[in-house]
Amino acid sequence: MMDRDSWVSNVGFVLAAIGSAAGLGNIWRFPWLTADNGGSAFLVMYLLLVVGIGVPGLLAELVLGRRGRQTPVGALRSLIGSRWGTPLGAFNVVTTVVMLSFYSVVGGWVLRYTLLSPSGAYFAQPQQYFRHASHGLPAVGFHLLFLAIIGIIVYFGVSRGIERVSKIMLPAVVVLLGGLAVWTATQPNTAAGYAFYLDFDGDYLAAHFFDILGPAAGQALFTLSLGAGAMLTYASYLDDDVSLPRDTLAIAISNTMIGVLAGLVVLPLLISQGIGPGRGGPGALFVALAAAFSSLPGGTLVATVFFLTVLLAAITSGINLLETPVATLVDNYGMSRRLSTLLVTLLIAVTGSGLALAGPAFRFVSGPVVDVMLTVGLFAFLAIVGWVLRDDAVTEFRTGAGRLRGLATPWVLAVGWVLPVVVMFSLTTTLTSIASLSVPTSTRVIIAMVTTLACRAAVTRTTH
Ligand code: PHE
Repeated sequence: MMDRDSWVSNVGFVLAAIGSAAGLGNIWRFPWLTADNGGSAFLVMYLLLVVGIGVPGLLAELVLGRRGRQTPVGALRSLIGSRWGTPLGAFNVVTTVVMLSFYSVVGGWVLRYTLLSPSGAYFAQPQQYFRHASHGLPAVGFHLLFLAIIGIIVYFGVSRGIERVSKIMLPAVVVLLGGLAVWTATQPNTAAGYAFYLDFDGDYLAAHFFDILGPAAGQALFTLSLGAGAMLTYASYLDDDVSLPRDTLAIAISNTMIGVLAGLVVLPLLISQGIGPGRGGPGALFVALAAAFSSLPGGTLVATVFFLTVLLAAITSGINLLETPVATLVDNYGMSRRLSTLLVTLLIAVTGSGLALAGPAFRFVSGPVVDVMLTVGLFAFLAIVGWVLRDDAVTEFRTGAGRLRGLATPWVLAVGWVLPVVVMFSLTTTLTSIASLSVPTSTRVIIAMVTTLACRAAVTRTTH
């Protein structure tokens, strides 16, 4: 195999990984899920799940990536053999292609809104404007433009492309978002929005605990870029002297802060404009927030800064999604990065255009399909770490971990015993809600336990 590229510094890796995590999920998906699921109650549940599933799950992906030293197919094949490794790795690669197909369409909308905000083009009729911009040929055009931008970055490789760009763009996102949050705080009538977002409502949480568990778990995975093999790919370029638990904490904490910050901008603004919860969906940010900007002093400037921030965040996530299939062709087929970038970009140009033209397919893929694929992907990673590798995973965790090495054993036990059941429960919840079945919580818990045990039995039988 050719010499692989690697990160110039650990800081470069951490910034790129935070860049991957902080994206449309934080700014576009998170505030609306929060609004639709009871505000502060959802925020609390989400934070619990980031700590409970997100952190150990991210560690599992980083452990697999650094130990395997390759993209998902090669890494999983070398770690667990080709019988399970090849299809699971291939499933990850397909997940990133599917995700990027829709992500790049939304990235295209954001690009369009960034370019057009200075003129306030969509201020007069936000609803009609978005309907026109979000589907059909205009959407295809901007999707291709967004894809071209991330294609160029990925073409330059890990150290010269991704690391360099992330080091500039991610800090810019944080500074701009901070500025916007301060500006929001100076606007009138925002108190109700802050209260909705930040005043903890224990009764709501108790009454809806299991209803919000599903969406909150989905969001915890999506926002930490978990279950797609994308973080695994980034970790495959890491050296042994890096502490994986420390990096994981840095990534999870920073990403959560960026999500909370985005909520501090989006929710008070919307609620101050009388736009209440329950109006989520893909258009929410573009229609409702655009309406809010149009009625505020200095609206065009703020709108431009806002959409530019979202654009930068989307780019640093898009490059992680593109890097995974591109590097897979390089790792496994010895293809040049130039050809591989071209081929994968062309593929996504086509699949993304399909989604931009077909509204219902777009909604289905960007919602349920992605939720299911990420959840299945994470379940597989947990199973591999907790059931198959175990001692090797503990060794990898400890390598370079310094004082945090003592956490390896509790981590691997949680990954092998507790987390798979929780993730399977969230999968069952997602699947039953897609099928519009109402299955009682207790039944779903039992299904989750039985399925997990059956998987465990099957995996241990075939890998020992
Ligand atoms: N975490 C990204 C976001 O929040 C999305 C993403 C998922 C990126 C999976 C890469 C892999 O927008």
